[in-house]
Amino acid sequence: MLEVISLTARGNDRMQYDFDAVIDRTNTNSSKWDKNLELFGRDDVLDMWVADMDFPSPQPVIDAMRERLEHPFFGYTFPSDSLYEAVIERMERYYGWEVPREWIVFTPGVVNSLYASLKALANPGDQVVIQSPVYFPFFGAVQNNGCQVVNNQLRFDGEQYTMDLDQLADCFVTSSRFPARSHRIRALVLCSPHNPVGRVWTPDELSQLGELCLENNCVLISDEIHCDLLVGDVKHTVTSTVSPEVQQNTITLMSPSKTFNLAGMGASFAIIPNPEWRAAFSQARVGQAGVNVMGLVAMEAALRHGDDYLKQLNAYLRNNIDYFARRLEAIPGLKMLRPEGTYLVWVDMRALGMDDEQLRDFMLERARIATDFGFVFGPGGEGFQRFNLACPRSIVVEAVDRLEGAVGELTS
Ligand SMILES: Cc1ncc(COP(=O)(O)O)c(C=O)c1O
Repeated sequence: MLEVISLTARGNDRMQYDFDAVIDRTNTNSSKWDKNLELFGRDDVLDMWVADMDFPSPQPVIDAMRERLEHPFFGYTFPSDSLYEAVIERMERYYGWEVPREWIVFTPGVVNSLYASLKALANPGDQVVIQSPVYFPFFGAVQNNGCQVVNNQLRFDGEQYTMDLDQLADCFVTSSRFPARSHRIRALVLCSPHNPVGRVWTPDELSQLGELCLENNCVLISDEIHCDLLVGDVKHTVTSTVSPEVQQNTITLMSPSKTFNLAGMGASFAIIPNPEWRAAFSQARVGQAGVNVMGLVAMEAALRHGDDYLKQLNAYLRNNIDYFARRLEAIPGLKMLRPEGTYLVWVDMRALGMDDEQLRDFMLERARIATDFGFVFGPGGEGFQRFNLACPRSIVVEAVDRLEGAVGELTS
């Protein structure tokens, strides 16, 4: 269906990326493109679902892996000093955050780190707060660790999402009344920037949340995997940087996988200032694999040499979002929420008057676009769809054309 037009990465110093290039990803065991029949029941859908970009990774990452392949040994390995330095340097340069080396723990994925954090710090029966609509594996991580989900649903005024901190304070009051420690709130999992609603939380929002967690002896697990993907006029604040006290009470989860399209490399890291929590985290991971040889190489190259790529990527994503927004304004019944961060666009389709099943059928059978269905993100997601706009513009154009046609058929 899609064919290679061009893939250019010119020059060695300032690399110029061609994000318009359409590269066929089918038959590469791509979870995004090669599972259409199995997941969606048809093979002609345009894949705009899972958070995986239709752009090649940065050239320096590919070069570093190629160079590593020249040494034909792939035995047991460990993170190098220079990888630790790359993380430390990046945290300082991008987020003004000073991270001592011993706080860093490398892991094969952010969801893996989330499971380890909960296993390490929460007991079965404990309550854990998440804020829906939210990245749906958060529900599973809480429940699979034997904990109970307390949903502090985001507030939505029709234009903007905010955290409902009054409601959260009430949740803490209610939970503190349980006589058994094991039924009280032990942790809160924050999504920052927030997938799927695209909010980049302000320093003030993060301070208030951090204080509330501190006051209530609640561990703050901050999933910041989308921190580099800034598509509004905003800055990302690392939750841990709001105060030294909040820092001690926070586990930060990050990875180059979204920013540089490296999800298949299984390379990420947790930053855990509290030494006891760090030990418990490592204990919770005993017996599990670490990051593989190529993942370590790719992660370091991305952190060290991905600046050009990231700058151009964010500019490209912003233009995709602008285009999508402009076109959607002309389609009755659809309302796009402009994200501040992430390349994921949250579209309110409630005005079409369909239930979740009808909306799913509409997207797959009529529009022939595979999105992430809003209801999977939990309460508050019903009637919405999440579109992944990290793709060449021509795919965005095709998607809007399909959407426009499908809505047109409904009304004609
Ligand atoms: C908020 C969030 N956390 C974690 C992940 C997955 O991370 P990993 O593949 O490193 O487990 C995603 C992927 O979309 C995500 O959006």
